[in-house]
Amino acid sequence: MDLLIRNIGQLIQILEPGTGRIAGIDMSRLNLIENAWMSVKDGIITGYGPMSACNASAKNEIDAQGKIVMPAFCDSHTHLVYSGSREQEFVDRLHGLSYEEIAKKGGGINNSARRLRAASEEELYREAMVRIREIISQGTGAVEIKSGYGLDTESELKMLRVIRKIKETSPLTVRSTFLGAHAVPPEFTGNQDGYVDYILSDMLPRIVEEGLADFIDVFCDKGFFTVENTARILEAGASFGLRPKIHANELAFSGGIQIGIKYNALSVDHLECAGKDEINALLESQTMPTLLPGAALFLGLNWPPARDMINAGLPVALASDFNPGSSPTGNMMLMLALACISMKMMPEEAIHASTINSACAMGVEKELGSITIGKKANLIITKKISGYNYLPYAFGSRLIDTVILNGNEIETKYYSYD
Ligand code: NIG
Ligand code: FE
Repeated sequence: MDLLIRNIGQLIQILEPGTGRIAGIDMSRLNLIENAWMSVKDGIITGYGPMSACNASAKNEIDAQGKIVMPAFCDSHTHLVYSGSREQEFVDRLHGLSYEEIAKKGGGINNSARRLRAASEEELYREAMVRIREIISQGTGAVEIKSGYGLDTESELKMLRVIRKIKETSPLTVRSTFLGAHAVPPEFTGNQDGYVDYILSDMLPRIVEEGLADFIDVFCDKGFFTVENTARILEAGASFGLRPKIHANELAFSGGIQIGIKYNALSVDHLECAGKDEINALLESQTMPTLLPGAALFLGLNWPPARDMINAGLPVALASDFNPGSSPTGNMMLMLALACISMKMMPEEAIHASTINSACAMGVEKELGSITIGKKANLIITKKISGYNYLPYAFGSRLIDTVILNGNEIETKYYSYD
């Protein structure tokens, strides 16, 4: 054994091997052991139990001194490869402009596209790695990253190659998503159909040929991509074996949820505009509703109906949406707090949503998202706190003491803006 953690105050989110998504009433039940130990070998969880029955020893031992140990967060929706920032648009919104108005004026996603096109692959990688180090220090152990600030073939390829390099060089588990249909670029203004033709004939085959994407995404919403064009893109993605994870119903009842389900999306994300019809459609699917409270907070949108979804028997996942326009943070502990404070999710539900369910929403649930023998030892050791309810309660506090990825303690103190 390589690592033994003793005197764990609460070892939380313990699941049996093979457990998948947690839905409805089951989300309110969290399995834990008080006063526990756990062991790790070759980066994999090998055992756990109550301290009273601990007779193991290891070359590396951590005395948790009553702190909480939990699985690291899975952040199943981010756009963390980007160049520069957009705080001027934030100030414009404080002056009263809406997100859609800013986009119409050539700001928003197209603002980030201009900057990304001008940046080299090396610069983008360096900038993104600062964000990667930051989210690791905030307890993230797996992350999905989207393209979608390139909006032409070469720039989308550049962005996806940066994601591939992050996959190869960071200790995180990374999944990549092709989001060519994030916005219509200036070259195609007024010609969304023409841009979609270009995505299908030029971008997608090149990306598939280089094996750069695990999933495919479309921003299916009012002022962005129509349901018809979303269907064309998902159809083409399916022909290459790419499963959708789509942006849906953020700005309007766009039909995005239903079209995602029709194409067997792994997840539909945002869902600020969702009612009975959308919930019923989700109940008949295997698609994971994924809520992004950072974007709802930052843009002042309606809160997604998390309670209605869970009460109806659905699972819910949480993700940060880390991006420069609508959620400039990847702090999953904050998402947990927002889910409870603003969407009235219970702490147990928010923990399921940000670990195992978010793992399902990025297809890594067999290796991550819970304390399970055989899964990767991607773990958070908290500061000394009274119990897991304290995590969403003390929102904004630094609650994480140690992050362990692949069984190795990560030095997080240097992980800051530099
Ligand atoms: O998930 N909604 C679409 N895309 C991002 C925002 C991207 C941006 O503004 O740069 C989101 O909120
Ligand atoms: Fe997003």
